[in-house]
Amino acid sequence: MSNKKQIRIGLIGTGLMGRIHTNAYKRIPDFFPEYEYQPVLQAVCARREDKVKAFAAQWGYASFETDWKKLIAREDIDAVDICTPNSSHAEIAIAAAAAGKMILCEKPLSKTVKEGEAMVEAVEKARVKNTVWYNYRKVPAVTLAKEIVASGKLGKIFHYRANFLQDWTINPELPQGGDGLWRLDVDAAGSGVTGDLLAHCIDTAMWINGGIKDVSAMTETFVKERVHQGSGQVQKVGIDDACIFHCHFDNGSLGLFEATRYARGHKALYTFEINGENASIRWDLHDMNWLEYFDHKDDPHVRGWRKIHITEGEQPYMKRWWIPGTSIGYEHSFIHHAADFFYALETGKPCHPTFQDALETQKVCQAVLDSANEKKWKDTGVDWKG
Ligand SMILES: NC(=O)c1ccc[n+]([C@@H]2O[C@H](COP(=O)([O-])OP(=O)(O)OC[C@H]3O[C@@H](n4cnc5c(N)ncnc54)[C@H](O)[C@@H]3O)[C@@H](O)[C@H]2O)c1
Repeated sequence: MSNKKQIRIGLIGTGLMGRIHTNAYKRIPDFFPEYEYQPVLQAVCARREDKVKAFAAQWGYASFETDWKKLIAREDIDAVDICTPNSSHAEIAIAAAAAGKMILCEKPLSKTVKEGEAMVEAVEKARVKNTVWYNYRKVPAVTLAKEIVASGKLGKIFHYRANFLQDWTINPELPQGGDGLWRLDVDAAGSGVTGDLLAHCIDTAMWINGGIKDVSAMTETFVKERVHQGSGQVQKVGIDDACIFHCHFDNGSLGLFEATRYARGHKALYTFEINGENASIRWDLHDMNWLEYFDHKDDPHVRGWRKIHITEGEQPYMKRWWIPGTSIGYEHSFIHHAADFFYALETGKPCHPTFQDALETQKVCQAVLDSANEKKWKDTGVDWKG
């Protein structure tokens, strides 16, 4: 490590993403040892001292803070990693950029397009390296899907279809707001499944298939009121529990997207399928190391959907891991994302998805919510370059 350039990480938020990002940083020196830039677990921040202290000790951070403003003000922090609920992303990121820190921000970029624009402006003004953790791009099978589409093997694309299905909020007794349940509180989350789940599907879709031009959507809030953990009162639920939208892509293909937290039996069923004139591809998060591929040019005697196990060294990211035939997991998508960030420091290129890319996704989310609200088609205003 001594001849390496150290990037001192300041992590904010110690929940699910705080743990998974920390795991990613810890794996970089072992699995990407030749990279010039390497992370150092310098400081972690959470609001409760007892909890953050225990987290720092368990995961190996050198120090801790209980106020993110203090963490950002520290001279010994190079990069700030934002793993807090959506409502805090803009304030933290804008302050971190002003302090000249690199920023790795969890998705969705922001609660609104307006906030997202201010965040993009802040990182551009400060010229700080930035990325947003749309990690599914970094699943080897998904990266390979992108490469296959980019190679032209599918020919003209007609359809892009994606689902993200869960079932964890069906119980009407589940409260909203506070630790663990901020996703149900519109003030903390910005939106429901649109910003939480569809944002992932939209990012992957635009990365693989180009910009989304316009959308027509419907949303539903099945449970209209829930007790708020903050006030203790029964309050209106302001998030979308389910959302379905269809759209036109810039390349002329049609898109169909659905996300819900009311699909009984499904925990995190993220799937997508792309149909082109020559071939089709599909992927399923539950079977994340596999890509299904149908090629119409195959000999008709053996033509059919083939299931490709993405574990060969020639396939994206896989030369870093074990041996052909053995699988990797969900956490590896974050390790790959962190690695791409450090490699981008070496090359001087952006680490996609950048704040700008994530702003384009935010525009689609906003258009989806507006369309559902107004019961009208909406242009997204997306200018996709990512
Ligand atoms: N990329 C992905 O696949 C993925 C998956 C899950 C969550 N996320 C995103 O990551 C972010 C965090 O989600 P999570 O699931 O880790 O949530 P979580 O509830 O598990 O953790 C959030 C953490 O933020 C802390 N926190 C809240 N306000 C804070 C403040 N002012 N200062 C310091 N800490 C504060 C909480 O105490 C908690 O530790 C969200 O934006 C979410 O959308 C992304």
